[in-house]
Amino acid sequence: MTTKSLERFSFAERVSHWMSALCFLYAAFTGLALWSPRLFWLAGVFGGGETVRAWHPWGGLFFALALGVMFRRWVGQMQLDEDDEIWLAKSHLYAQHIEAGMPETGRFNAGQKMMFWLQSASAFFLLLSGLVIWFPEVAPRSARLIAILLHPICAAVSMGGIMVHFYMSTLAVPGSMGAMIRGKVSPGWAKSHHGKWFREVSGR
Ligand code: HEM
Repeated sequence: MTTKSLERFSFAERVSHWMSALCFLYAAFTGLALWSPRLFWLAGVFGGGETVRAWHPWGGLFFALALGVMFRRWVGQMQLDEDDEIWLAKSHLYAQHIEAGMPETGRFNAGQKMMFWLQSASAFFLLLSGLVIWFPEVAPRSARLIAILLHPICAAVSMGGIMVHFYMSTLAVPGSMGAMIRGKVSPGWAKSHHGKWFREVSGR
C-alpha cells in the first residue's frame, strides 16, 4: 500500500471550518455570560458586560456567515445514501467500536452528516431568533416571545452537538485533528475510517 498521505481537507475548507469554530466559541461563551448571572463572570474574560452585550450578536452573525460558507461547500456531500441509512441503524455498534458489519463510509460517515444537518438547522434558527432579539422594535410581540424561547434552546442543542463533535474529533478518532490542521491523513487512517472515500481518492 502507498505510504503517501492523502488530502482530506483543502486549505479553503480548513479556513472556513476554523472560522466557524472560532466564531461559534466566541458566540457560545459570550452568550452564556448574558444568559445566566451565575455565568456572568465569563463576561470579564471577553472585555466586560457592555462589550459582551454589544459584540455577542456580531459574533453570532459572523458564525452564521462562516457556517454558510461551509454549508455551501459541503451540502452536496452531506446527503444520506442507502449505506448511510444502514450505518445509522447500526450506529450502536460504531459507538461500541465494533466496526464488523458496518457499511464502508464515503468522505463523511452518516454520524458526521447528521451533525452537519443538526448544526446547520440550529444555526439557522439561532440567526433568525437572534435577529429578532437584536432588533425587537421591528418584530411583533409574539415573534419576540418565540425568539426568546427558541434562542437558548437552539444554543443548548448546538453546544451539546459541538461537545460530541469535539470528543469525536479529538479522543474518539485519533488522526482527525491532523486532518483539519494540516489537511492530510495517512492511507491507513483513510482506509479504516472512510473506506469508500479511500478507494475513490487512491484508485485502489
Ligand atoms: C470547537 C472546536 C472544534 C473542533 C476541535 C473541531 C474539529 C474538527 C475536526 C478534527 C474535523 C475533521 C473530522 C474528519 O476528518 O473526519 C471536523 C470536521 C467538521 N467540523 Fe468541526 N471542530 C470544531 C468546531 C466546529 C463547529 C463550531 C462546527 C459547525 C458548527 C463544526 C463543523 C464541522 C463539520 C460539518 C465537519 C465535517 C464533518 C465532520 O467531521 O463532522 N466544527 N471538525
